Amino acid sequence: MNILITGGAGFIGSHLADAILERGDEVYVIDDLTTGSTENIAHLRKHPRFHFIHDTMLNESVLNELVNKCDHIYHLAAVVGVKLVVDSPVRTLETNLRCSELVFKLAHQMGKKVFLASTSEVYGRHYENKPLKETDERIYGPTTVGRWSYAGAKAIDEFLALAYYRERGLQVVVGRFFNTVGPRQTGQWGMVIPRFVKSSLSNEPIMVYGTGEQSRSFTYVGDAVWAMMNLMDCETAVGEVFNVGNGEEVTINTLASRIKELTGSRSEIRHVSYESVYGQGFEDMEFRTPDITKINQYVGYRPTVNLEGILKRVIFFYEERGAHAVVSDNSQSPLRVVSK
Ligand SMILES: NC(=O)c1ccc[n+]([C@@H]2O[C@H](COP(=O)([O-])OP(=O)(O)OC[C@H]3O[C@@H](n4cnc5c(N)ncnc54)[C@H](O)[C@@H]3O)[C@@H](O)[C@H]2O)c1
Repeated sequence: MNILITGGAGFIGSHLADAILERGDEVYVIDDLTTGSTENIAHLRKHPRFHFIHDTMLNESVLNELVNKCDHIYHLAAVVGVKLVVDSPVRTLETNLRCSELVFKLAHQMGKKVFLASTSEVYGRHYENKPLKETDERIYGPTTVGRWSYAGAKAIDEFLALAYYRERGLQVVVGRFFNTVGPRQTGQWGMVIPRFVKSSLSNEPIMVYGTGEQSRSFTYVGDAVWAMMNLMDCETAVGEVFNVGNGEEVTINTLASRIKELTGSRSEIRHVSYESVYGQGFEDMEFRTPDITKINQYVGYRPTVNLEGILKRVIFFYEERGAHAVVSDNSQSPLRVVSK
């Protein structure tokens, strides 16, 4: 098959490209390299079945040609990362709404199947610590608090995907990723594990936001990739929404201590207020754990890498490349660009 990955030079998308090429398919990636990097796909440069288009997917004529050429579309391109969302609200909303609208429209016109990368953020801030089910309520703060714009836009993407499915027959599957982590993820936009690992390896203070008693659960990127590919191959998954995550919970304080231990770091663990990082009025959620019963029932999904395994892989990645490595790269791509 020909597979299109929007945002395929990003963290998750580049791992997906590896797995799809490994399966034997042809991969087309479109990425504007705003948060993605040519480094993430540099190893694929000479692969005969890999094609990279350095462009925004909002360029409709280019996207039209790609959708036409491909059988399946994994739509991952988005503005991602709490810091980026808070700092660039217009770009976040415009990108995250318009890109999905365009993909669904073109895929519907040409009869192509789509995977939509959504997020656990759509649940908002639940106050009770219980695993979240796909049908649970969404509880958001007010529109004056910018961080909820990402959740709001992704929720609209989901509504639109499901509307296209019900009203126009678009073949679409929605996956809600819960804190997906692994090698190649940059801590630049607020992602906690790479941030802590980089600080620990360079013996700089590990900055914990808030009390650190908020808990999260982390999914290994390889498990998320497995989930996406199997959901796309599952006929009954069409028109459905799935949590893609790992139920193993950890507080951010414990996470910081564990990373410090595993790296043998001399770093001090320091607490700072959310406001000092994200500005006044920032809101966060205390808990966020997935119920993964549904995805297990549909495709037999089970996480294969636990937190310890994830941390070791991320530490190894940053040890190899140097803790200060810059992962983001907005330079002109030296990679192959297919004719437009
Ligand atoms: N990593 C996580 O924990 C997580 C959690 C929930 C949801 N997600 C979703 O998964 C997807 C991938 O996230 P990621 O963690 O790999 O982030 P990422 O930032 O590494 O990937 C997003 C990619 O999209 C590209 N992009 C942005 N705007 C574009 C545009 N207009 N045209 C073309 N490319 C564009 C970026 O350059 C980047 O390569 C996103 O949709 C995100 O919302 C990720």
